[in-house]
Amino acid sequence: MAIQRTLSIIKPDAVEKNKAGAILARFQEEGFVVRAMKPIHLTLKQAEGFYAEHRERGFFGELTTFMSRGPVLVLALEREDAIAKYRDVIGATDPKKAADNTIRKLYGDNVGENAVHGSDSEASAARELGYFFSGYELL
Ligand code: RTP
Ligand code: MG
Repeated sequence: MAIQRTLSIIKPDAVEKNKAGAILARFQEEGFVVRAMKPIHLTLKQAEGFYAEHRERGFFGELTTFMSRGPVLVLALEREDAIAKYRDVIGATDPKKAADNTIRKLYGDNVGENAVHGSDSEASAARELGYFFSGYELL
C-alpha cells in the first residue's frame, strides 16, 4: 500500500471537552505523521461548503450548525494506507455502533456529535485537503 494523506477534523464537541490533545496523541501512536495542522472556527457557510455532499440530507442543518458552533482542529495526516487506516481508528459514524477503543467510541456522544471527521476515499481526501490547506502548507 502506498503512503497517503487524509484530512482529519477534531470536531467542536471534542475540542469543547478538552480532548483534542488526547485524540492527536492517539493518531500519532497509530503511526500518522502530522503534515499540517490549524485551528479554525468555521462559519456556517464554510461548514456548508465542506459538507456539500450532504446538502439534501435531513441532518444537514444540524450538522453544519454543530460544525460551526466552536473551534475545530484540522489536520493533514500521513501514513501508509492512511485513508482506510484512519477510518478504522475512528470507528463507525454512530459512537454506539463503533468498536471498542475507537476514537468515536471513546469520545463521541451521538451520531451527530461524534468527535472527529475523516476522508472516506482518495477523491474526498484530495478535495478536503485542498479545502483547508494551500499547496505551500502541504509541502
Ligand atoms: P464524517 O464525514 O464526519 O467523517 O462522518 P462519516 O463519514 O462517518 O459519516 P457521514 O455519513 O459522512 O456523515 C457526516 C456527519 O454528519 C453527521 N451525521 N448526523 N443525525 C444523523 O443521523 C447524522 N448522520 C450523520 C455526523 O457528524 C457525521 O459524522
Ligand atoms: Mg463522511
